[in-house]
Amino acid sequence: MILTILGGGGFRVPLVHQALLDDPDSNRVTHLRLFDTDAPRLRAVAAVCAEQAAASSSPGIEVSLHTDLAEAVTGTDFVFSAIRVGGLAGRACDEAIPLRHGVIGQETVGAGGISYALRTLPVVERLGREIARLAPEAWLISFTNPAGMVTEALAPILGERVVGICDSPVGLARRAIAASGVGREDRERVELDYVGLNHLGWVTGLQLDGRDLLPGLMADAKALGSFEEGRLFGPDWLQALGHLPNEYLHHYYFTREALAADRSAQASRAQVILEQQRAFYGVDDPSSSGAWQRWETCRMARETTYMASNREAAGSFERDPDDLTGGGYDRIALQIMHAIAHDRPARLVLNRPNAGRVTSVDDDAVIEAPCLVDGTGIQPLPIGEIPAHGVGLVQQVKNVERTTIEAARAGDRTLAWRALALHPLVDSVTVAKRLLDDLLDEVPGLEYLR
Ligand code: G6P
Ligand code: MN
Repeated sequence: MILTILGGGGFRVPLVHQALLDDPDSNRVTHLRLFDTDAPRLRAVAAVCAEQAAASSSPGIEVSLHTDLAEAVTGTDFVFSAIRVGGLAGRACDEAIPLRHGVIGQETVGAGGISYALRTLPVVERLGREIARLAPEAWLISFTNPAGMVTEALAPILGERVVGICDSPVGLARRAIAASGVGREDRERVELDYVGLNHLGWVTGLQLDGRDLLPGLMADAKALGSFEEGRLFGPDWLQALGHLPNEYLHHYYFTREALAADRSAQASRAQVILEQQRAFYGVDDPSSSGAWQRWETCRMARETTYMASNREAAGSFERDPDDLTGGGYDRIALQIMHAIAHDRPARLVLNRPNAGRVTSVDDDAVIEAPCLVDGTGIQPLPIGEIPAHGVGLVQQVKNVERTTIEAARAGDRTLAWRALALHPLVDSVTVAKRLLDDLLDEVPGLEYLR
């Protein structure tokens, strides 16, 4: 089986490579093609992969490096897309420019997410058309953020063969299941009910042997306060709400506090990560020995500082050591590949068109909810409605997402303004206009909208 990673020089690629090496399946991936527009980054990541392979007792995986897309994609079975258009420098703009206008700047949520999408959508649509042409049988598993909009833009191009993934629902589920007191041996069997949009969804049930564990967990303030989302939102708010929200909803439920924390932070998230990763990508010879250790040190630094400003806004708490291991992103990818290629059914929370599952958005709207993945493809599973308290928010944000996609397709500045102005985290049409002016002046990759 051949796997191509777009964004092969990306920081999280060694997680996928390690998962492939550790995969005990006899039908596992045998050839990993890493594609990137930046050759030095590719070499830095390849050096980590080489050290991982040397330390592994399993037969190695052939890793090839590509800066030519056709070479990387032709004949492949699966494509993972984990690209960051504009790099961390672009992310720094998405985060800083909104903040200057008194608006939250986050790479996937609010004005920053729109800026990131406007830069990313033309690129992923072009890549989608190339994949459809060069590898019409291949599946695209897309990690590229903002994942909801990226998946919705690609669905008309790749149809069934594109799926968007995110590791935040499984991370939340893992913590909630542990907090609900289920023994380790039973945790894998708990079925997660989750519904919403990417970075905007809720756990609505945790089913074990026909019993829902969620009501018991929601009634237990101490258990709720024992894991990350409980500390972020407060057990009392979770109980008032009645469902467990994705951590990114902190920007919506605690907008003032999140904004204040972002404004008083010494550096934006992009700047923090750029600084951390200088010790990996920025060394004189990134392929010199010790690459894996340098990468791991940076990875841990990134994990320990994840969502630092939101945690600061919620009273400054540290992350749980169990949450620093990673192991979400790569495992979901592996499960999808085995499910499709070898008919090993998996129930996963994925970004796919609604297809009649919830009545509050139309059938084509991409939502994040459980699907059954197997040899026949990806089938949406019944999930129940979006919680009533979240319907308005989901509909509003979905409309903003679609306006953003239309703006990108048409190169239409007025639509981009409308998207920004109607986002629930942007509180003034005037501010949206000024903010857009600055984004178009300053963010590389948005010139097409001027
Ligand atoms: C979570 C989110 C991803 C995001 C990642 C890294 O896993 O679901 O969408 O890319 O965190 O966030 P960071 O701020 O470290 O880049
Ligand atoms: Mn995500």
